[in-house]
Amino acid sequence: MRPSAGYPRILEGLLDAADVEYLKGFFDLQVKTEWEKNEALAASRNQPKPRRSLEYYTLLRHLHSEPRDHSLERVVSKLYAAIEKQLGSGFVIVHDFWSWRTPENVPAEFIHHDPDFWVAGRHDGFNLWILLDHADMSHSFDILVEEKNPKLYEIVGDKAGRLLPERDPKKSQSCPGLLFWDPLSRWPLLYERPWTRTLAMVLGVGFNKFWEKSQQGVLQLKRLLPTWAFRCFMFFAGWCFRLTPLPPGLELRMDRFKMKEGDALVLRQYELHTTDQDQLQSHQFRLAVGVKVLRQAPITQYCYTGPASRTRRSYPCLRWGLGELLPDFYRATKLDFKPYPSTFLTRALFAATAEVALGDAETR
Ligand SMILES: [Fe+2]
Repeated sequence: MRPSAGYPRILEGLLDAADVEYLKGFFDLQVKTEWEKNEALAASRNQPKPRRSLEYYTLLRHLHSEPRDHSLERVVSKLYAAIEKQLGSGFVIVHDFWSWRTPENVPAEFIHHDPDFWVAGRHDGFNLWILLDHADMSHSFDILVEEKNPKLYEIVGDKAGRLLPERDPKKSQSCPGLLFWDPLSRWPLLYERPWTRTLAMVLGVGFNKFWEKSQQGVLQLKRLLPTWAFRCFMFFAGWCFRLTPLPPGLELRMDRFKMKEGDALVLRQYELHTTDQDQLQSHQFRLAVGVKVLRQAPITQYCYTGPASRTRRSYPCLRWGLGELLPDFYRATKLDFKPYPSTFLTRALFAATAEVALGDAETR
């Protein structure tokens, strides 16, 4: 049994009404306004409307800005106290994120693990996902819980991955989907030093393009070949693409949990999850804020395909040293959020390492 199997699923009333109001105001001012500015800028340049994706580290940046915001400091202390009391000691918050769901906006459409959990060699981390506001959406996102999917979790084991379910009903019985193992490595250590950062960005573009193209190629092959021939190919060459086909007949059973404003859902590190993707009515929406929490342990490897890492690597104050303990940024005294100086080259390389697009619309 995994050490995190006994974690509570919901921390009821983790935040009170005043905290929730404060965070809703924070979202409107610091996140939504920023999105609207970017959208106006894109419209003025005749570019397509940018996606309102997950935003990382906005709370941390504000926590270390002047004048100090005591309301936010109180919220962070509350989170640490609840973690210590209800989930155990020795944990640190590694990042914060916003989740904004509307009929047009699905923040995380793939079934996935958060690869950032796997940077420190301990596998008992969790996310606290706190519901702040909603219209007819008093529930969490979707989770493949282990109790209902034991066979799937035997295959998944203890690695970070994504799951691409087969949408073609003719093929889904013989191969219900593919598991992709997220690449984590030590070479992204080069991102953590100013003088090797450009080289890391060049390598990052190469690696990301390789994953994107190679997996799209394999998915194309899956569409073209009969399942037996595809399985044969994967038996001999699947390791090369970090893809594993699921066995015939395996059913994927999703769960979602009822929640009230101020409640926090505990997502365990190894749980595959995705944003719920029902067709919403025009008035429906849901706002949540989350923190990722890991046992404080030495860094063993880096994630380079995830959006949180991409944001973290923009700031020298958020460096992670290989072999060093995960820093406790949220309880540090003062961080200077001055970003790395940028050049035309680094801006172009940064833009080229947007999150790896896995598969295509049919396989999402
Ligand atoms: Fe996630």
